[in-house]
Amino acid sequence: MIVTIDGPAGAGKSSVAKMLAKRLGFRFLDTGAMYRAIAWAVRRDRLPTDDVERLEGVARGLQIQVGDGRVLLNGEDITNKIRNSEITALVKPIADHPGIRRHLIDLQRRIADGISVVTEGRDQGTIAFPHADCKIFLTASPDERARRRHADLLGKGEEIDLREVLQQQTERDERDSAREFGRLEPAVDAVSICTDGLSIEQVVNRLERLVRERMA
Ligand code: DC
Repeated sequence: MIVTIDGPAGAGKSSVAKMLAKRLGFRFLDTGAMYRAIAWAVRRDRLPTDDVERLEGVARGLQIQVGDGRVLLNGEDITNKIRNSEITALVKPIADHPGIRRHLIDLQRRIADGISVVTEGRDQGTIAFPHADCKIFLTASPDERARRRHADLLGKGEEIDLREVLQQQTERDERDSAREFGRLEPAVDAVSICTDGLSIEQVVNRLERLVRERMA
C-alpha cells in the first residue's frame, strides 16, 4: 500500500509522515532528503548549479540511501548536515531540474516496489505515485508554517530572523508552485487537510483513521 503526503514546507509533513508510518508499520520515505543529499554533494564539490548536464550526470552517479531517519550519501551519514538554510537555498535549482527529478522518482519507485510506504514530498501523489491508495495534501497558513520552521531552526542553533524565514518560505512556495515538471499541487483525488491549530498527534490520528478505512 502506498500513502502519499504532499504539501508546502512547514505544513508538518515530515513529523506526521514519520509517525504515521511507524503506527502503520510502513516504511517512511523522505523524498526531500534525496534532493537535499544532491545539494550537499554539489556544495561539497563546489559544482556550478547552472551546468545542467553535468549536474544530472553527478546526481545519477551518487548512491543515496534514506531510511530509519538517516540519510547516507555514498555510505557517508549526512543526516545532520542537510537541514540548514544553506542547503535549503542550494536545493532550489536542483529540484527544478527535470532530469534529476526523473532520476529521483525512479529511485523512489524502486524503493517502494512491493512494500508498504508512507512517502512525503511535493509530487508524490501527482507524479511519483499517481495510483497511490491514499493521497494526502497537508497545508497550513504561511504564518504558522514560518513560525514552526523558525522554531525548528532555532532549536538547531541557527540564528535566523522570523521575517527572513517567512521570506525564504514565500520564495520557495512560489518556486515549488511554478515549476514546470513536478509542481507543488494537490492530486485531484487527494484529501486536503489544514494543520493550523492541530497538534501532530491530532493530524496523525486523523490520517491513521483515513488509511485504515482505505485498507479495510
Ligand atoms: O521537504 P524538504 O524541505 O526537505 O524539501 C527540500 C527541497 O526539495 C524543497 O525545495 C522542495 C524539494 N522537493 C521537491 O521538489 N520534490 C519532492 N518530492 C521533495 C522535495
